[in-house]
Amino acid sequence: MTSLDKFINDNRNRYESELMDWLKIPSISTDPAYKADVKRGAEWLAERFRSLKFKTELIETCGHPLVFAEAPSVPGAPTVLVYGHYDVQPPDPLDEWVTPPFQPSIREGKVFARGATDDKGQMITHLFGAEAWIKTVGKLPVNLKFLIEGEEECGSEGLYEFLAGKYDSPLRTAQQMIQADIVVVSDNAQYGPGQPAVTYGLRGIAYFEIRLTGPKQDLHSGLYGGSISNPANALARMLAALVDENGRIQLDGFYDDIIELSDNEREQFAALGFDEQAYFAGVGVTGGFGEAGYSALERRWARPTCDINGLWSGYQGAGAKTIIPARAGAKVSFRLVPNQQPEKVHAALKAKLESLCPPGIILELISIHGAPGSMVPLDSPYMTAAARAIEKGFGKAPVFIRSGGSIPVVNAFAERAGMDTLLLGWGQDDDNLHSPNEKFLLADFHRGIATSAHLWEEIGKISTT
Ligand code: BES
Ligand code: ZN
Repeated sequence: MTSLDKFINDNRNRYESELMDWLKIPSISTDPAYKADVKRGAEWLAERFRSLKFKTELIETCGHPLVFAEAPSVPGAPTVLVYGHYDVQPPDPLDEWVTPPFQPSIREGKVFARGATDDKGQMITHLFGAEAWIKTVGKLPVNLKFLIEGEEECGSEGLYEFLAGKYDSPLRTAQQMIQADIVVVSDNAQYGPGQPAVTYGLRGIAYFEIRLTGPKQDLHSGLYGGSISNPANALARMLAALVDENGRIQLDGFYDDIIELSDNEREQFAALGFDEQAYFAGVGVTGGFGEAGYSALERRWARPTCDINGLWSGYQGAGAKTIIPARAGAKVSFRLVPNQQPEKVHAALKAKLESLCPPGIILELISIHGAPGSMVPLDSPYMTAAARAIEKGFGKAPVFIRSGGSIPVVNAFAERAGMDTLLLGWGQDDDNLHSPNEKFLLADFHRGIATSAHLWEEIGKISTT
């Protein structure tokens, strides 16, 4: 066992107790009531980097602060940027949590808390991976920087302003700060339990709110019904027209830019032996739905979607109330595959909804956020380095997968700074991210730390000249 491995092994209890402290901070970015707690999360993290002698800054933005930290330079070595997020999703519905979301609890080798896997528990493995080098060897084998944001779960407005140069100083620009040979992100999942993976594709997203306004107030549906447009009926018709019974999205030009799956990639997916029945049973459904002609894995990883994420109108209380509601609304999002642009989806959706909007209804379509998907080249020395590190840290070679989730900034790193990203997820798809009882297997947390430490070594061997 190397001194590095020994250090990591000897520090397991401390890693866990630091993780528990970290998860106690309710850094819910979307809810203004938690602004001070989000800031406390940024400060906790900044302090942790400072204790490792990283040059650390809290960058204030229009939203929550960014944490930027940079290890002392290692001349001649490659430069790595770790991106992650310290903000979390709201924990609702609270009564479905077995233990409270911000009182981390360990059961059956898993830590249960909001942010356990997404992304506080995963991102901090890289801090510990760096710490192991600093505490044993005295320095890192790479130039290492961290950019950890506090708004990933709510649109990353501050991060995009930072990337656009809004917070540049004469001494340092965002472009200089983030510039690296490779980006590393652990904000995703393994292929499955016991099977680590490198993810080479993510879907993008286009997220909207639709608001329909009808009469000036709720009306008696007997007295007025049949003569006045009902916003709830209108909304139902509009939403139903977005996807057909074969799972095809009915927006003009929606499929035009899509890069179709190659036969080779379909074979690679099929070779993973994905058990669809077990997958459906795992989420409590008796069968699946999706675009005809594609497997569940293909639909999740490489085909676009349209999902209603929220829907409201009319009377929701006990019993019956006969009204034409004054308003109706929905949150609707599209998952996009690489090469699809959220702006085009916005325009097509607007045209579709306008064509279906009946007289007497005012339609508002609000674009909440959007980002294209990403693909990462498989044939790079960084991929090979990541695969080697995973094999050492997890004791098993990774498979190469895509994922249906979105990490919007990965596309921005590629488009704006020409940087590829290694997507190295230590979590599992069923870790309940964004759901009650979010969890993270502690064995994977520790394997993630070991893999991170090995990754710096493997990347350090790559020549950048
Ligand atoms: N960590 C997730 C994304 C993820 C999870 C990717 C698992 C791959 C596998 C991230 O925090 C997230 O939830 N992103 C949002 C993006 C959105 C709010 C812009 C998503 O995918 O819904
Ligand atoms: Zn995340």
